[in-house]
Amino acid sequence: MLTAMKKQFEKQFDAQPEVAAFAPGRINLIGEHTDYNGGYVFPAAIELGTYGLARKRDDRTIRFYSLNFEEAGVISFSLDDLDYDKADSWANYPKGMVKFLIEAGYNIENGFDVIVEGNIPNGASLSSSASIEMLTGWLMKSLFNLDVERLELIQLGRKVENHFIGVNSGIMDQFIVGMGQKDQAILLDTSSLEYHYVPTEFGDYTISIMNTNKRRELAESKYNERLEECQKALALLQQELDVEALGHIDEATFEAHAHLIDDPVLLKRARHAVTENARVKAAYDALEHSDFKRFGQLLNESHASLKDDYEVTGVELDTLAESAQQVDGVLGARMTGAGFAGCAIALVHQSKIKALEEEVTRNYTEKIGYAPSFYHVNIGDGVKSIEL
Ligand code: GLA
Repeated sequence: MLTAMKKQFEKQFDAQPEVAAFAPGRINLIGEHTDYNGGYVFPAAIELGTYGLARKRDDRTIRFYSLNFEEAGVISFSLDDLDYDKADSWANYPKGMVKFLIEAGYNIENGFDVIVEGNIPNGASLSSSASIEMLTGWLMKSLFNLDVERLELIQLGRKVENHFIGVNSGIMDQFIVGMGQKDQAILLDTSSLEYHYVPTEFGDYTISIMNTNKRRELAESKYNERLEECQKALALLQQELDVEALGHIDEATFEAHAHLIDDPVLLKRARHAVTENARVKAAYDALEHSDFKRFGQLLNESHASLKDDYEVTGVELDTLAESAQQVDGVLGARMTGAGFAGCAIALVHQSKIKALEEEVTRNYTEKIGYAPSFYHVNIGDGVKSIEL
């Protein structure tokens, strides 16, 4: 991949790259739509990701080229105009990152050229956007010797989503892309940002990623709508409860105060946030005790809650996860990421991977009309420099 990228770099920019970096994508084991509710998440970085090469220029021009969007050509703008521009298409993600690094006081004194290429399926809920944000942050850090910590890059990446792109997402994706480590998931408390690494050791079982191959549409507006619903539900609970976030409420306290939420839709949304948070803690506990069966059950319960209470699945993700749940040797399956389309994960016995793929493909294709895809990828490192 790098050799071809270097050739392209020379071809597009007539120069040699100076630095190279890789930023992964991610899966989330469990803890969905809990991060903007101050709850727990349990993600892991994957070995699929985005590669980037960069060099400094003498002037103030910035140029981006993606081997995934060759039709977009070289996207060029000036260091002196870093406002969002629809015409810059995918390059708005790196543009926002550069803008916010500069606003945070980091000295990016020259323009630069960047080539990127990724192998994360686009729009598949595996965080290709956090990957490009963190990749850009890391390339800038290397190229301009910025003394910026991972955590700050993570926070700036989230700021790009929230204030440049316009998705009010939580911190999970940038956090795991920034902090991931090989063969480790991270249990993260999104309120305190306390976290610790947990080995992704599933004995004879492994995680399969299953892609609906349905492109997400309108996902951003639905996502923001869920956030607002949670905020409304929280405000109603705060009439009697002294809490800052849905993620700080245990299930018993929630049920005892559920009458305060007089809107049935808001009640369901809040119930998901509260029960999902409890499931993350239970799943962590199950994994610590190598109780994979329990872990799998929690995956199934998570999917059901995302389907019935949070309503972010849709027929494609439901067919995928529910078909997988029926396969002999599968302990559990659920959608991962924002939902609406994209991917699901399954915890499957290593000897049953083929059966899973065959049975799910048959069911899914029959019902949906096209086939899903499957990936077996290792849990890998967070954003890092790589040798040129
Ligand atoms: C997207 C967001 C995350 C998180 C998930 C749902 O991936 O970027 O912050 O909210 O959806 O868990």
